[in-house]
Amino acid sequence: MAKAIEKTELTEVSEAQIAVHWKEEEYYQPSEKFKAQANMRDPHVFEKFGLDKFPDCFREYADMLTWFEPYHTVLDTSDAPFWKWFVGGKINASYNCVDRHLTKYGDKAAFIFVPEPEAEPDVIIKYQELHTRVNEVAALLRGLGLKAGDRVTFHMPMVPELPITMLACARLGIIHSQVFGGFSGQACGSRIHDSGSRVLITMDSYWRNGTLVDHKANADIAVRTAKDLGQDVDKVLVWQRYPGKYSAKTPMVPGRDFFVNDLLKEYKGKKVEPVALPSEGPLFLMYSSGTTGKPKGAQHSIAGYLAYVTGTSKWILDIHPEDVYWCMADIGWITGHSYIVYGPLAIAATSVLYEGVPTYPDAGRPWRIAERLGVTIFHTAPTAVRMLRKLGPQEPRKYKYHFKSMTTVGEPIEPEAWRWYYDEVGKREAVITDTWWMTETGGFLGTTMPAIHPMKPGSCGPAAPGIHPVIYDETGAEVPKGSGKAGNICIRNPWPGIMQTIWGDRDRYVKTYFAKYNTNPRSKDWRDWPFMCGDGAVQAADGYYRILGRIDDVINVAGHRLGTKEIESACLTVPEIAEAAVVPVQDELKGRVPEVYVAVKPGVKASQDIVDRVIKANEEVIGKIARPKHVYIVPDMPKTRSGKIMRRVLAAISNRRDVGDVTTLANPDVVEQIRTMVQGKETVTTQEALPEDIAKFGQVE
Ligand code: WTA
Repeated sequence: MAKAIEKTELTEVSEAQIAVHWKEEEYYQPSEKFKAQANMRDPHVFEKFGLDKFPDCFREYADMLTWFEPYHTVLDTSDAPFWKWFVGGKINASYNCVDRHLTKYGDKAAFIFVPEPEAEPDVIIKYQELHTRVNEVAALLRGLGLKAGDRVTFHMPMVPELPITMLACARLGIIHSQVFGGFSGQACGSRIHDSGSRVLITMDSYWRNGTLVDHKANADIAVRTAKDLGQDVDKVLVWQRYPGKYSAKTPMVPGRDFFVNDLLKEYKGKKVEPVALPSEGPLFLMYSSGTTGKPKGAQHSIAGYLAYVTGTSKWILDIHPEDVYWCMADIGWITGHSYIVYGPLAIAATSVLYEGVPTYPDAGRPWRIAERLGVTIFHTAPTAVRMLRKLGPQEPRKYKYHFKSMTTVGEPIEPEAWRWYYDEVGKREAVITDTWWMTETGGFLGTTMPAIHPMKPGSCGPAAPGIHPVIYDETGAEVPKGSGKAGNICIRNPWPGIMQTIWGDRDRYVKTYFAKYNTNPRSKDWRDWPFMCGDGAVQAADGYYRILGRIDDVINVAGHRLGTKEIESACLTVPEIAEAAVVPVQDELKGRVPEVYVAVKPGVKASQDIVDRVIKANEEVIGKIARPKHVYIVPDMPKTRSGKIMRRVLAAISNRRDVGDVTTLANPDVVEQIRTMVQGKETVTTQEALPEDIAKFGQVE
């Protein structure tokens, strides 16, 4: 496929075809016991979901849902690449996740909430109770005048009130936009502004690492930030971590702030009919980072999204109604939306919802929970695996839980960490699915089908049914499997879970994900619109993909996407800073962490105080997860003769690599000064090749 080079949002990489060498790992086979019970055992499923059967094959996922009115068109491409799935249908996500289970599973737990303090009892929410609570909150939201199409921002921690409020919105067609609870008030405020929300829903406090955090304070900052940007928030609804008691110090603002528990008194026992909404109505927004400083709101649809996460929860997570499923992610990220809330609930799962930190009070906590609650399916990120391994390599052996299957998501997992997960956590009984996907894709892309494919540590596997990946090089030529070459991984075809657009920015949607490999912008044929995922990847001869990481100046910190530009602009809020450049550094536990280089304005003296304020600025503008590992105040940035900062050189220094030839720079001498500052006088570089996401980092300059 030829390409029209357009200035896309993504890095124009001159050498995507960097040869990638790594040891081929051996296969691990799923056990016969697992295979015998799996929801999807038919190897022909991949033929049934072949490209020649596209898009009708996805009817099978739509059939897993209950429709108020049937759809007439599986895929409408008339506004390509803004795909419309299951057009003509009327449906409600809240109905599908709650009401339709009541007859058979009303008495079964939907959620088992585990508070972080170990002495606090679990809270079990059965489907019947979930129904009651979702209805009451929906009645309240309707009572406030909210209706289908309105946006409401949440800034909620990991508590049952979060999915309850999401489902209450979904019942009415209100578009929810949950901002990760660990993000700062400012980050929440800018997302309120972008989405045009007039209501913010939050909680007074929550437990994290043994501390009851005053979370309400963030709401005040969020509202102020949104107002400064031009968006008024009329109401802040505050859930109470301990109902009936206010657990934050920050005062409530009269006329603006209301306790949800107080308001709910008026709606006790109220029922709200789930609204029959069009398939392609938006269900929620999920903000994520990209190349620019402005986070993008990935807009997901009701029917397509729900069908996709339902189908993949059933076949790939292999959840059965009798399982106890625990996804130890935060609902504030896409993983939690798709695989704690919507997918599992649509198939009547029982889910564990854990409030706190996996290693609190010690590295045995997850395994105690698993043993006590009889968890059978466990889902987490490589960062948690690395952390639990480091702090308690033998801990899983002390507990008598048995997982049948486990998932990893969010970052590449090193084969060594994978094997500990398999041997120790899974006790060599559980299958592992390494699921590769992203906020934009709604659900899994690259994965094995657990009862069908063998596992291979470090590779996500082939792809989910109906997902047809392709790796393109910079010229748009296909990179063949087994070539050992890396390129940009794309998906040839749309699928129901794909985002609909970037909220309020159609152009950015087309530019970011399609412009690079689309040859005919007027085409209405989906074949002309491969979706560019934003990752580098390599495909082995056996068809398994190995994901190499982001190619768009996004740093994946412990599985969380942080935009370089967002961090740099946070640094620039410190008045003394003239220039800032951030680079990713390899980290044993978190995968990548940001390191910051700043140059101060003329006449300003470098000081620890400035360093501290740069760190604080990142925590305030983004959140604690954006805290840089180091802040270096440098005499000048290494620059090209045209004045562009060479982040690549800084990345090499931070990662203890050779900086290469810098003689063509405008100021080559500064490179050695910076190198000494960071690495010390002795050369401590390693010859080991940099991981591809770091090697390519900042090449846009
Ligand atoms: C990375 C999280 C390797 C990838 C669901 C992607 C992975 C980004 C994997 C999306 C995996 C996710 N193996 N890398 N199994 N899963 N990634 O939007 O770089 O928070 O582009 O969605 O995480 O992060 P996001």
